[in-house]
Amino acid sequence: MSVLVVGAGAIGQWLGALLFEKAGESVTLLARPRQLESLARLPMTSLSELPPGAQFDDILVTVKAFQVEEAARQLVESGVKTRRLWGFQNGYGSDEILASHFPGVWFGAMTTTIPVYIEDGKPMPGPKGGLAWATKHEKFLAPAWLNLLGLPCFAVARVDSLKCSKLLLNITCNASCALLDMVPAQVVAHGPMFDFELACLREFLAVVKANRIPLVDLPNYSVTQMAVLQRLPNLLIRGLLGAKITDARGQKPPSLLVDMRAHRPHSEVDVLNGAVVALGHRCGVPTPGNTWLHHHLKAVVKDPLQWERYRGQIDSVARQALQALKTK
Ligand SMILES: NC(=O)c1ccc[n+]([C@@H]2O[C@H](COP(=O)([O-])OP(=O)(O)OC[C@H]3O[C@@H](n4cnc5c(N)ncnc54)[C@H](OP(=O)(O)O)[C@@H]3O)[C@@H](O)[C@H]2O)c1
Repeated sequence: MSVLVVGAGAIGQWLGALLFEKAGESVTLLARPRQLESLARLPMTSLSELPPGAQFDDILVTVKAFQVEEAARQLVESGVKTRRLWGFQNGYGSDEILASHFPGVWFGAMTTTIPVYIEDGKPMPGPKGGLAWATKHEKFLAPAWLNLLGLPCFAVARVDSLKCSKLLLNITCNASCALLDMVPAQVVAHGPMFDFELACLREFLAVVKANRIPLVDLPNYSVTQMAVLQRLPNLLIRGLLGAKITDARGQKPPSLLVDMRAHRPHSEVDVLNGAVVALGHRCGVPTPGNTWLHHHLKAVVKDPLQWERYRGQIDSVARQALQALKTK
């Protein structure tokens, strides 16, 4: 089968290599022109523009959520044809944008619980986790390569379950770390800041419940058990969830902080905390904590000079954030 991977970043290069090496697929990477020289070392084809009449069995879009609109438009303008289209973005909202550019095409949402970073130009996957996917279309039309990648691959019954279960893993200690320019272990170790994180997590779980979206377990993450933890006192959660976060990714800058440090003019906070706020509006559940994080991180992304007001100032940020929880 032929697969086009759109976006040759951490996920695109990693997934492209798995598809080529493990599943034996014919893989093309659609990359930025500046990336072509370094991608020439890979055994897959790399292009920055599709030739006329290009056709693939699958197109996997692995750009950031805020780049989906532009990438989808470029694909449509190129006239490329495909049997299936996949969105790999974290968070909530970009699948709809992507799918709307290809009406009638089978669409799947996919994610991984393996963190993948680019180091020295190469994708470096974490040691544990796997893939998960879901579709609103016919499941039996999914490709065979899903089970040939050498990783656990969960088929999830509902797209919203997949998206929200992954969102639960993505929102904790992500936006706050980006705002503070700190790593998750520092947030977990700070009592008031971690209390605020847990308040945001409880908001999210209330929103998911009110929208009747069932959470599901993902490879290496018992999401359903994490959701039950919310009923425990914060001190106990810090011992259980906090220890797990510190152990698994305590010293790693989370994705929103990576983007801040790279001076990206956009942020996926819109599809993470912003999506919690939007889902809250849909069902009338207040989300003051996620609203506060979304609003403040967006302001800093728009005007990076404002970052100085938050960086490293965990005591005052925690105070402001906890105060925001009192606004309904
Ligand atoms: N990394 C992870 O561990 C992980 C895990 C699960 C899910 N995800 C999700 O997967 C998505 C991709 O993440 P990532 O970490 O792989 O991001 P990334 O490293 O930034 O990769 C995206 C790549 O796509 C390129 N790109 C953007 N628009 C393009 C276009 N129109 N044509 C060609 N190339 C284009 C980007 O180039 P520029 O840099 O020039 O913009 C970049 O090289 C995100 O939504 C993320 O939330 C990531």
